[in-house]
Amino acid sequence: MIPFSVAQPVDSIRGQVFLPGDKSISHRVLMFSFLAKGSSQLANLNTGLDVQATQIALANHSPNISTPQVIQCDNSGTTARLFCGLFAKSVGDITLIGDASLSKRPMRRLADCLKPFGVRIETSSAGTFPVHIYKNAVLQAANVSLPVASAQMKSACILAGLQAEGTSVITEPGISRDHTERLLRLFGADIHKKDNVTFVRKSTLHPIAFTVPGDPSSAAFLIVAAIIAKQAKLRIQNMSLNPTRIGFIQVLQKMGANITLYCDDPDAIEPVGRVDVISSPLTGVAVSEAMIPNIIDEIPVLMIAASCATGWTTFDGIAELRLKESDRIASMTQNLKTLGIASESTETRVAVKGGHIQGGQVDSFGDHRIAMSFLVASAASKEAIEVNDTDCIKTSFPEFFELAHTIGLSLSSHSSQSS
Ligand code: S3P
Repeated sequence: MIPFSVAQPVDSIRGQVFLPGDKSISHRVLMFSFLAKGSSQLANLNTGLDVQATQIALANHSPNISTPQVIQCDNSGTTARLFCGLFAKSVGDITLIGDASLSKRPMRRLADCLKPFGVRIETSSAGTFPVHIYKNAVLQAANVSLPVASAQMKSACILAGLQAEGTSVITEPGISRDHTERLLRLFGADIHKKDNVTFVRKSTLHPIAFTVPGDPSSAAFLIVAAIIAKQAKLRIQNMSLNPTRIGFIQVLQKMGANITLYCDDPDAIEPVGRVDVISSPLTGVAVSEAMIPNIIDEIPVLMIAASCATGWTTFDGIAELRLKESDRIASMTQNLKTLGIASESTETRVAVKGGHIQGGQVDSFGDHRIAMSFLVASAASKEAIEVNDTDCIKTSFPEFFELAHTIGLSLSSHSSQSS
C-alpha cells in the first residue's frame, strides 16, 4: 500500500503554529550527549524518522566492544555523514547501512576529507553505502579544506577533530549551517570560528539541559503557503532564527513577501523567535550561488513561491540539490511542468517562470521536501493537487498534516495498492 495525499485549493491561511524541534539540531544534541560524560536533558527533539534513526543507533551502540558492529542509518544523510566523524575513533570496526535512497548518496568525498585525521573509511565501488569505518585508537589533528560548503561534511570533520591530538583546522568554501560549532561550545568543547574557518581541539564534553528550537525548514512550507494564498495571517512560534538557517526568509522578503521576525534573545547560543506572515504579491529574483548553502533545504518550496511570482526567479550554484533524498531539481521541474509552470535547468542552475499553478497528479520521488512543497502549492492552485507516496513526510515532519490543517490547508491522505 503506497499512501498518497490530495490537497484541495484553499483561499485563506490563518492561525498560529508552535513548531516541533529542528532536525539538524536534534541529531547534533543527541550525538554530543552520547559523547558527553553524564546525562543531558533534551526537550522538543524532532519526532521524525531521521532523528529516530540517530537515537536508536546511539542507544544500541556499545562503544567498548571490539567486535564489528553494524549501524542502520535508514534514510538519514545527516546520521550517515556525522556518524563517520563520531565513530572515527572506535575500538571495533563499524559498518553503516541505509535505505535505497541513502545508499545512492555520495560518501567518498567525506571519506577523503577524514583521511588526514588517520581515519580509514571504505565505501562501495560507486563511492556510496555500505560504508566501513576501520577501528582506530588514535586520531591526529588535521588541516582540511572541504570541496563544497556542506554542514554535514564540516560536522564530520569537527567530530573527528574533537577526538584528535592537537588543533584541527577546517575550512569551507562557503558558509553552511553552524549548529555543530555553536552547540559544541555549549557542551564545553574547545572550538572557535573565524569566518568560514573552524578551529577545534580534543575536548571532554559535559552534559547539558537544552530545548531544541523549532525547525525553520519545516516552517518554510507553512510560511510559503501563507504568502501565496489569496488571504493569510500566520504566526509561527519558537522558530530557530539561527542566521545560517533563515536565508529563505531573506529571499522571500526580496521577492516582496511581508514577513516580520521577532527574536527572543539575539545573544542566545541558538536564537529563537516568532515569525509573522501576511499574504503578498511576489516578484521574481536572482538568487546567487553564495546564498545556496543557507537555503539548501528550502529551495524546493522557494520554487513553489517562484511559480506564483511575476517573472523569472533564478537559482545559481544548485549542483548539491541533485544529491539529496532525490535529485531535487529534476523532481521539482518535472512536477512543476505537470502543473503548468515553466522552468529551465542546467547541472548548476535552475530558473522558474511565474504563472498560475494548475491542478494535477505529481510524484514525491520518495522525498519529503518535494511532497510537502506540492501539498502547500494548493494554497495557490486552480484545482486539486494529488501527491503520490507521501509517507516520506514522516522522515522530518510527522506533524505536517495536523499543523497544515490547523492553518486552513485542505489535505487528505489515502492508501492505494502498489502496482
Ligand atoms: C544538514 C545539512 C544539509 C542539509 C541537510 C541537513 C545538517 O546538508 O541539506 O538536510 O544537518 O548538517 P549539507 O550542508 O551537507 O549539504
